[in-house]
Amino acid sequence: MSYFKNKTAIVTGSGMGIGRAIALELCKQGAHVVLNGRNEERLEKTRQTFLASGYSVIAVGADVTQISACNDLIQKTIEAFGKVDILITNAGVSMSEYFENLDSKVFAQVIESNIHGSAFPALSALPAIKTSKGSIVFISSAAGLVGLPTASAYSAGKMALTALAQSLRIELSNSGIHIGVVHVGFTKNDDDKRVLNAKGELIPVAHRPAYLQQTQEEVAKAVLDLIRKRRFKSILSVVGKLNAFAIRYFPGLVLSIISYSQKRMGNVYKSKS
Ligand SMILES: NC(=O)c1ccc[n+]([C@@H]2O[C@H](COP(=O)([O-])OP(=O)(O)OC[C@H]3O[C@@H](n4cnc5c(N)ncnc54)[C@H](OP(=O)(O)O)[C@@H]3O)[C@@H](O)[C@H]2O)c1
Repeated sequence: MSYFKNKTAIVTGSGMGIGRAIALELCKQGAHVVLNGRNEERLEKTRQTFLASGYSVIAVGADVTQISACNDLIQKTIEAFGKVDILITNAGVSMSEYFENLDSKVFAQVIESNIHGSAFPALSALPAIKTSKGSIVFISSAAGLVGLPTASAYSAGKMALTALAQSLRIELSNSGIHIGVVHVGFTKNDDDKRVLNAKGELIPVAHRPAYLQQTQEEVAKAVLDLIRKRRFKSILSVVGKLNAFAIRYFPGLVLSIISYSQKRMGNVYKSKS
């Protein structure tokens, strides 16, 4: 029987993209799934698609940077399914601009989205997950391993998730709760994915060579694998794994390669506004 059968899982930011793929994989494995996002129309469309396949799913619109909305998300999950076994904090906005050009409000928005947007749902879910001895998994990025150009606030936010996860892992070591962090690499995006520019406008994501991208399904399977094995850290994609190794032993070389690739293929990192 699947590890996930009859478990209740919340996936934040699951109306589209990687979050939706994780939610779908959990549904296929027999979990009761709570979809979340701010765009209620998109969320409802995703819920209807899942329901049409016969999955056990609800959708809760909530901005996860707000603690009251997170409390509501957990309360509605318990009303629907009676418990919370798994929380995956996937919601997060990204950016594409050099630090010196950034409006300070954009810096704050990216930080808030990635740090508060992960810490607050975890805080709200903690009592229920203590009872179930379940999992809290933070979705991070390769940008959480090394600071990337045009992604200063995003990298800072994702690196902070490692610190948060390390603190929780120690604080909760006797609770039976599993804490995990997944460093996702370049992944094929939905066509309507947007990131923030210097002024806070939503712009399309930079072009990325296809060979650097994993599918959303591959990422979703890797996240479920980390939960099933109750592992702390998972670094996805060959590039991500090589990066993590090289940063540890050859940090200067990694910075040179990032600088070189930015000059050669600047559009890997920088979107066109
Ligand atoms: N795609 C990649 O190549 C890649 C690489 C590394 C890491 N990641 C990470 O993987 C995660 C998912 O990325 P993605 O590419 O799938 O992103 P995406 O397509 O932009 O989807 C992000 C989702 O998060 C939701 N969201 C954003 N802010 C929210 C908030 N405050 N409250 C609730 N929901 C919120 C969005 O829905 P609403 O707009 O409706 O709120 C959307 O459903 C992110 O944490 C990202 O940093 C992605």
